Amino acid sequence: MASIKQMDYGTPERVSDTQVTLDIDGRVVMVPAGTSIMRAAAEAGINVPKLCATDSIEAFGSCRLCMVEVEGRKGTPASCTTPVMPGMKVKTQTSRLEKLRRGVMELYISDHPLDCLTCPTNGDCELQDMAGVVGLRQVRYGFDGANHLKAEKDESNPYFTFDPSKCIACSRCVRACAETQGTFALTIAGRGFDSIVSAGAEESFMDSECVSCGACVQACPTATLMEKSVIEHGMPEHAVQTTCAYCGVGCSFRAEMQGDTVVRMVPDKEGGANEGHSCVKGRFAWGYATHQDRIYKPMIRERITDPWREVSWEDAIGYAAQRLRAVQAKYGKGSIGGITSSRCTNEEVFVVQKMVRAAFGNNNVDTCARVCHSPTGYGLKQTFGTSAGTQDFASVDDTDVMLLIGANPTDGHPVFGSRMKKRLRQGAKLIVMDPRRIDLVKSPHVKAAHHLQLRPGANVAAVNALAHVIVTEGLVDEAFVAERCDPVEFDRWRAFIAEPRNSPEVTEPLTGIPASEMRAAARLYATGGNGAIYYGLGVTEHSQGSTMVMGMANLAMATGNIGRRGVGVNPLRGQNNVQGSCDMGSFPHELSGYRHVSDDAVRSVFEEVWQAALDPEPGLRIPNMFDAATHGTFKGLFVQGEDIAQSDPNTHHVTSALEAMECVIVQDLFLNETATFAHIFFPGTSFLEKDGTFTNAERRINRVREVMAPKTGKAEWQVICDLVTAMGYPMHYDNASQIMDEIARLTPTFRGVSFEKLDRLGSVQWPCNDAAPEGTPLMHVDGFIRGKGRFMITEFVPTEERTSRYFPLILTTGRILSHYNVGAQTRRTANVAWHPEDILEVHPHDAEERGLRDGDLVSLASRVGGTTLRAKISDRMPQGVVYTTFHHPVTGANVVTTEHSDWATNCPEYKVTAVQVTRSNQPSDWQVQYESDGIQRRQIAPASPPQAAE
Ligand code: SF4
Ligand code: SF4
Ligand code: SF4
Ligand code: FES
Repeated sequence: MASIKQMDYGTPERVSDTQVTLDIDGRVVMVPAGTSIMRAAAEAGINVPKLCATDSIEAFGSCRLCMVEVEGRKGTPASCTTPVMPGMKVKTQTSRLEKLRRGVMELYISDHPLDCLTCPTNGDCELQDMAGVVGLRQVRYGFDGANHLKAEKDESNPYFTFDPSKCIACSRCVRACAETQGTFALTIAGRGFDSIVSAGAEESFMDSECVSCGACVQACPTATLMEKSVIEHGMPEHAVQTTCAYCGVGCSFRAEMQGDTVVRMVPDKEGGANEGHSCVKGRFAWGYATHQDRIYKPMIRERITDPWREVSWEDAIGYAAQRLRAVQAKYGKGSIGGITSSRCTNEEVFVVQKMVRAAFGNNNVDTCARVCHSPTGYGLKQTFGTSAGTQDFASVDDTDVMLLIGANPTDGHPVFGSRMKKRLRQGAKLIVMDPRRIDLVKSPHVKAAHHLQLRPGANVAAVNALAHVIVTEGLVDEAFVAERCDPVEFDRWRAFIAEPRNSPEVTEPLTGIPASEMRAAARLYATGGNGAIYYGLGVTEHSQGSTMVMGMANLAMATGNIGRRGVGVNPLRGQNNVQGSCDMGSFPHELSGYRHVSDDAVRSVFEEVWQAALDPEPGLRIPNMFDAATHGTFKGLFVQGEDIAQSDPNTHHVTSALEAMECVIVQDLFLNETATFAHIFFPGTSFLEKDGTFTNAERRINRVREVMAPKTGKAEWQVICDLVTAMGYPMHYDNASQIMDEIARLTPTFRGVSFEKLDRLGSVQWPCNDAAPEGTPLMHVDGFIRGKGRFMITEFVPTEERTSRYFPLILTTGRILSHYNVGAQTRRTANVAWHPEDILEVHPHDAEERGLRDGDLVSLASRVGGTTLRAKISDRMPQGVVYTTFHHPVTGANVVTTEHSDWATNCPEYKVTAVQVTRSNQPSDWQVQYESDGIQRRQIAPASPPQAAE
């Protein structure tokens, strides 16, 4: 359990090779040059009073409460803005300082409501604390003068209030919004006494640019900016450190609690991935965990048209075991399989894949990473030798040129997006390659040097064009390539890429990017200093996703941008544990640590520990499972925390496959779309009820701690143990820590990982083993994991999905800040205030051609299906391209997407679908049927009427 308050050193940490020694109140203190007197004092245990300073933002020096005396200097400098000097002698407590500080506090308090006893932050207010610290006993000016006590509250934001009557105009919020978040939504309007914090142009918070990250609330020393949950529940009494369960940034949080009620989630300053920052999802959107839709009891039914029946765990597990074994007896050992979830912990994922391999006796296990980052795994393994990003997030602080491809970090990975913006404001350059004009192309104080607005589907042609410029203009880092890369592969690649067909001029008609712009971007990346590539699903979810990943790896190797801080090739992973679910051996061909199932030596190690014979043949991937189900050979599926009926492409095909199965088991928080086709429902646990680890996009293994006991009565891994034991394969662990010990024993890159180490160090990045006992922030420093870096030929092959007279537009999909994937969690929070439905962005020209206006209901149809949704006229997309999100099941964006997929990994081509858009005035047939079927198939049988007493 963590203490409620984290130490505030007043000003940010400084890093310097030079150490400065000084004397503060008679104590000798040594700190790095550039450190403020305030921080040096705090590090020595001396707390100088302060109001406008906090250690997450630069000092401003406005409140004058922190003044100190420095020997040999006139006046009383502010300790927050005065850096230490060698030999300085500082006094923080003198009678003169005491008097001055009391005078300052008197002024603040004379314009502040004296309602401390009923104030929601009573006991957690720095103004209150400072009044006590400086010994303020009276306010000579009275409270009758001009004041702000009647200023109106702004309660527009669903999660926090703004009460200007309590504002002391310290501007911590304004600076947090600018420096930490990078949104610049707040200003101090007016001057002197009339100074007031204003969101946007005197708008409400909801109407302003505010993205509800909570940084201002966190920075506010008073109750002016306050979480509504604290107003409702009161102050928390204990805190538990844990990890956000949304995106792959993996922010650390302190769940601040009253008993087992979460009062608020506060970003952890010690968090390796977020260093005290957060986004609206992790900070505020956790209410889904106790939403009324949660299912807490196991349920079963004979047929999917029957109503659900609540049963005991014992009965549900027995029924599931019997049905799975019956399917295997009838259709063979390979007729069942499982899908693991990237939202679950490493430990939960590990036991599911172990269940499939050891108890089901086959390798039919796959993970939802199949539909997002499987090409990352393939592409980076082929080129560098390991299936993971190369850097830690902090590395971007040393980047000079960011090449951002097919990712929208300010929406998808907001905390890292803020870090990128900070570095860009410091002068780093940005190249964005994306069909859509994402916010980073132009936002306050950030402007991309190049926006390469390519046509969806032309990624490989574009990356080849960049490489062509580098090779033909003599920009290759020959020394790096000679020392670090395979020379034969490089020569082959150099000859291929130098062919004129890869030039920006020849590929311009394919990519839509002017050749001059492409050439300028390539030169900037190759010569602008440290170049780092960041990318997302706009790279992987294509028929050439794996080729594109290899193309980016080629680019990084050719320019020597690998193996040190500030460079690298970095996937921005979508879900919280997508890296971990892959690491844990969820792919049908790989055991944990990415070792092939056909490797006898590797398999025998697992066989000995698991006491089971393992199949050397790779199993079925998710799309193969669906195909086999429709052909009648795959009949049973365990789905862990994933909604394949909503998230996978070509919904009709997925649902037909599910309907054809005889035993579908869903383990989830809610009766999701997939549960519509299930026979057994195991209620899952939210991240607040889990004990284990998540691994984020930078390979950082973070602890997830049980904030409250599982509301279902069982941890998810316990359910799996009970199920396989009932199937005849005994499996038992006392706790999640023992599962990690088994992972460490069986997985070389995790050999040094244990809960004890994670609790001690906070987090570690794998590989963590004897060679790197505290983990590995940067990969491939002295050499590639595979030995020599391997350049791969990346021939551009256009997708089979083509526009035509009937389907003349290209649909591409993405996600937005307030929602997360299929929306199962965020739709059950107040985040719907920002995005109540999915909308279709249509270019003004395309809209005009079709007679569409903003807000019109439109029909969106592809070769495989159709749906309806509202249109928004937007020039963010180029002409000919439309864009939507897939957060709301009733939209069913994946009814429209096709089954085209990556040639190497089967990752679906979500990003390119030929469609037509027309005006409509009614929901599609699919939506009408979805509503009625869904309602019927989610019915839970009423409890049996009580028996009359004898
Ligand atoms: S919540 Fe975040 S974005 Fe909104 S005003 Fe506060 S710091 Fe700025
Ligand atoms: S709202 Fe809070 S942080 Fe912002 S100026 Fe007022 S007191 Fe300071
Ligand atoms: S950036 Fe990602 S991990 Fe961090 S709080 Fe937001 S959703 Fe959670
Ligand atoms: S804390 Fe230093 S001037 Fe306010």
